[in-house]
Order: sequence, then C-alpha cells, then structure tokens
Amino acid sequence: MTNKEIKIAFKEYDSLQQLDPSEREVAEAAIEATGLSYAPYSGFNVGAAVRLEDGTIVKGANQENAAYPSGLCAERTAMFYAGANYPDKAMTVLAIAAGQNGVLCGTPATPCGACRQVMAQYQTKGGKPIVTLLIGADKIWRFSKVEDLLPLIFDSI
Ligand code: THU
Repeated sequence: MTNKEIKIAFKEYDSLQQLDPSEREVAEAAIEATGLSYAPYSGFNVGAAVRLEDGTIVKGANQENAAYPSGLCAERTAMFYAGANYPDKAMTVLAIAAGQNGVLCGTPATPCGACRQVMAQYQTKGGKPIVTLLIGADKIWRFSKVEDLLPLIFDSI
C-alpha cells in the first residue's frame, strides 16, 4: 500500500485591481452577468464570462425553472453558448461571480461538480488550459487549470 496525496495550487487576490488587465476584463464581465441571472427560486444570482482564444468574451447567467433540474448554472450557460457558437475557438479564461439582491458575495462561489466536469471537457477539447477566476467582493481565487478544481478528471472514453 502506498499513501498518495494530491495538492492543488491557487492564488488569492484582495481586489480586481491586482489581476492582469485581460483577466480583470473577464472578471468584470462575470460581475456584470450576475444582472442577467433569472433566479426566481433561489434568489442567488450567478454570472459567468468566458474568454476565447481570439479574445471574444461571452457571458452567461444561471437560468432557473419551475421544474428545478431543467434550470442551468451560469458557467454552463456561458460555456455551452461558447461551445455552440464558436466551436473552433478554445476557451482560455472562465470567470464566475455570484450575489444576492445586487450585492456580490464576499467569499467566491465555487462551481458545482457538473460544471467542473463540463469545464474539464472543454479544456480537453480546446487543448489549452482554462484559467478559472472565482470572484468575491473580499477575495478572488485564480486556478490556472481545471485539474486544480477537479483532480482525477474523468476523460477516459
Ligand atoms: N449556481 C450557478 O449558477 N453556478 C454555481 O457555480 C453554483 C450554483 C446556480 C444554480 C441555481 O440557479 C442557484 O445558483 C442556486 O443553487
């Protein structure tokens, strides 16, 4: 028997001003996208923005439904839009922001497991690491590749 350990690395910033300007632009788009959220059930407004390799930024927001599982998270809304409309462009940055009643959460919201699996697949498809920025009002977390959010990714088939 061997004990094994997986370590993940990420950076924490105190404000948007500390981000690289091109990543900051994606973070700001995600914050803006919280205003596009349709969340009549949870009241939790999540915005996401994806930067493509050609510089394009697309936005998404969570879309809820009375039949709860029919709704979709913000990051999948953004990634599926990008995947459907720009199939040949790799996704290079994904930013996620969340808030309630127009106030951004202090600590970043973290993507659900299903979203992480989708992020993993688009990273493989694009062949480039996807940087993930999780935006809170008090702190920002930056992950340089999806493996740091989803160790031991399933991509075997
Ligand atoms: N949600 C997202 O859009 N992204 C996440 O990373 C976490 C959760 C949404 C789903 C649902 O509309 C609401 O937040 C509450 O779970």
